[in-house]
Amino acid sequence: MSDGENREAGGAVSESSAVARENAPRHVAIIMDGNGRWAAQRKLPRLEGHRRGVEALRRTVRNAIDLGIAYLTVYSFSSENWSRPVDEVSGLMFLLKRFIRNDLAELHANNVRIRVIGAREGLPGDIAPLLAEAEDVTRANTGLVLVIAFNYGGRQEIVAAARALAQDVAAGRLDANAIDADAFAARLYTADMPDPDLVIRTSGELRISNFLPWQSAYAEFVFTPTLWPDFDRAALEAALDEFARRERRFGGVDAVHHVKKTAS
Ligand code: IPE
Ligand code: IPE
Ligand code: MG
Repeated sequence: MSDGENREAGGAVSESSAVARENAPRHVAIIMDGNGRWAAQRKLPRLEGHRRGVEALRRTVRNAIDLGIAYLTVYSFSSENWSRPVDEVSGLMFLLKRFIRNDLAELHANNVRIRVIGAREGLPGDIAPLLAEAEDVTRANTGLVLVIAFNYGGRQEIVAAARALAQDVAAGRLDANAIDADAFAARLYTADMPDPDLVIRTSGELRISNFLPWQSAYAEFVFTPTLWPDFDRAALEAALDEFARRERRFGGVDAVHHVKKTAS
């Protein structure tokens, strides 16, 4: 049984949180967008928006734990974000490193398991070892799984999976006719995780920007105009409420409250 199947939906809900929702998403994924506009509105440098974005991330992790969310995936840096000005890119790298250095102990103490998805090759300086350390230290934790999408691109992930399948076929380890959706999914970064049930994008943009294209095939999407640094408990709960009102059908005719495996 995979990690994804093992983990209970929902989980413990603390007394301080709202009444446990029916139809709560097990996996929430967030495109944390709007840091630059938040800063521009205040005539501050973009990096100040990113700094406030890290605070919103910290808050959201705490709220996710409190609300009993099992998996939280956050889009922190895309494959395409390297095209930003060098000082913004290095500022973002600095903030990521500082987040892990400052917050790892508290996350670990809160039983959070950290996973990182995205390409690890060619990352500058000491980032790759730091990401590996965060994963190693928290590997045995059983609480919230915090999935950090860093240097992540969905198309790149799909291409890498296709390459891995081709290599397995070429080496005689896999019959080409045995390639199905499960064989494909097993070669993605998210191999042992459940698909996101709910994808939230802040800042009012209505696109997915290369975020989890395979995994979100049947996700519900909530788009909010709130800029990421302003994303708070109420905004998260509003998205969960919106999700709870959705009727998921997975191609069938009746509402389905739990993810069903599709035939592959
Ligand atoms: C999201 O905020 C953070 C990253 C992409 C790293 P943006 O920096 O994209 O903010 P806007 O979209 O310019 O407002
Ligand atoms: C997506 O936001 C990436 C992250 C939030 C990390 P972008 O701001 O990079 O997306 P586009 O460029 O507006 O599509
Ligand atoms: Mg943006």
